[in-house]
Amino acid sequence: MVSFTVIGESSSDHLARKIASKLKSKYIGCELRVFPDGESKITLKTKPKGKIVVVHSVYPPVDSNLVRVLALVSQAKKYSSEVYVVIPYMGYARQDREFLPGEVVTMSLVAKMFKVAGATRIIVVDIHSILALKHFQIPTKNVTAIGELVKYFKRLHLKYPLVVSPDMGGVERAKNFANMMGVDYIALEKHRDRKTGEVIIKSKNHYEVRNRDIILVDDMISTGGSIVKAAEHLKKQKCGKIYATCTHALLIGDAERKIRKSGVTRIVSTNTIPGKTSMVDVSPVIVKAIS
Ligand code: R5P
Repeated sequence: MVSFTVIGESSSDHLARKIASKLKSKYIGCELRVFPDGESKITLKTKPKGKIVVVHSVYPPVDSNLVRVLALVSQAKKYSSEVYVVIPYMGYARQDREFLPGEVVTMSLVAKMFKVAGATRIIVVDIHSILALKHFQIPTKNVTAIGELVKYFKRLHLKYPLVVSPDMGGVERAKNFANMMGVDYIALEKHRDRKTGEVIIKSKNHYEVRNRDIILVDDMISTGGSIVKAAEHLKKQKCGKIYATCTHALLIGDAERKIRKSGVTRIVSTNTIPGKTSMVDVSPVIVKAIS
């Protein structure tokens, strides 16, 4: 087995330690100091050796975490020609194209910054869009946490479960999830106003949800708007319990409270973003992609 040194910083240290242990590699932590003006100063605790794996999610504060991971990559490059960067949650992936005239495709700049910093390979988990990865000029790999989430739900013994995607864009994800669970799936028709961000569900009645436990599957939950609207719609159709699951639970502001109020029994996410709902570990799929 190739020997790696895994570097983690506070945003992903728990996951980084799990990855290091599975790779039977050394783990190096960092000291983070945030100056009164908001600047981050990072100090590596020990000198890394061999191939290096930097593990660092880019979740809020997104810009600070982005600079921190780039700083770690550039430092790692001083010790190794091979720097793998695991970005379990890749912020900016939703800005992968120009939706409205004049919008900056910031993902393209972010991708260039990783190359300039010294990254030689990028590994992400359930990135919002594969197009986002096309902006990188170095090898990339997107791994999926769906299999790990499915293992969790198989243990719950739900009542005649139905997998539901809150929007048409997530239909493939829902299909894969449902196939692995051995159950049916449907996708709702969601519309989001590109200027105000407001979400509405345009779907008509879905009688097939009646009395069935629902697994609402999305790649990420941010403000909770999509899940809330989907849950309200499904409740009106008299479904059973609703479980909301995603790979990345950002849960901005009071998203969690709003989601529970809309009738969701449990939110289940992965540890790409640590938090109360991150019950599923993605280190096995990441390690597979590295080794
Ligand atoms: C949208 O295409 C994504 O897959 C998610 O549905 C969306 O980003 C979730 O955001 P929010 O929780 O703010 O509705």
